[in-house]
Amino acid sequence: MMKGILLAGGKATRFRPATQAVSKQLLCVYDKPLIYYPLTMLIEMGIQEIAIIAAGETVDVYRKLLGDGSRFGTTFTYLTQPEPGGIAQAFLIARHFIGKEKVCLLLGDNIFLNAHPNRIAAMAANTDNAYILALPHRNPSQYGVVSCSRRGEVLSIEEKPQKPQSHFIVPGLYFYNASVVQTAENLQVSPRGELEITDINKYYWKKSTLKVIYPSKKTKWFDAGCPEDLYHAVRVVRQKQKQTGKQIGCPEEAAFRQGWIGRRELEQSMRQNCHSAYGQYLMELMEHA
Ligand code: TTP
Repeated sequence: MMKGILLAGGKATRFRPATQAVSKQLLCVYDKPLIYYPLTMLIEMGIQEIAIIAAGETVDVYRKLLGDGSRFGTTFTYLTQPEPGGIAQAFLIARHFIGKEKVCLLLGDNIFLNAHPNRIAAMAANTDNAYILALPHRNPSQYGVVSCSRRGEVLSIEEKPQKPQSHFIVPGLYFYNASVVQTAENLQVSPRGELEITDINKYYWKKSTLKVIYPSKKTKWFDAGCPEDLYHAVRVVRQKQKQTGKQIGCPEEAAFRQGWIGRRELEQSMRQNCHSAYGQYLMELMEHA
């Protein structure tokens, strides 16, 4: 069984003033909150036990939005990140939640389209290894960058390098076994004052247990971490939804397709959203069920 962590803390300084009073992952991406997209991805990966980590003052807002998870056939554990101490701090905060299980960490501002989440989860199921994704990007210097040999061995992994060794970036989806808690405990704080996820990945790389998954070429990825990228995501989500008539980032639908919820839960969600296109969509789902 794999557990999931959805990370929704952080400083969100690139979104000020919007994030002075609102958590970034609650901002709207076209017609639903940003966090709906990665949450849907976790459900599509078959992960039912999820920890949602947020800053102290926003945990209650997430609880109000998402509830205990039963609406999606899942269980949510809410955890607080007192200070934005870096992405890798998530493993310390969630150490009891992780226990002895394998864990998937997904950043709350990452949106994946056409990623075939179930295939990714199946590839990452081996508990001996840690897994990261690699996606081609035009501007890799802004991200973690991984380079691999032709045989798929990791040759380098660097955080925001000025001279990237490849054009493959590491998006915010990572898989580890329970040893990641101890790895995080032994990390040094970086010069920018954070526990870095890249340092976790470097640790497993040095142990030759870091593996890379290349998602399908049709996969699109958005790091909605700044206004320009969020705007781009909004445009693509809107266009795709209009083209296909399907919602992107609908956790109820993902849970329904997993067989985790039935018509009754769909109906409850539909009633809460009955005046929006989202609620209308849930109603159509129910009618066709
Ligand atoms: P970032 O976008 O790298 O950082 P940030 O959200 O603090 O924003 P900014 O750079 O504009 O100040 O974070 C990536 C994701 O990880 C995002 O979903 C927030 C989350 N995060 C935490 O939850 N806790 C943290 O301590 C950090 C650094 C990030």
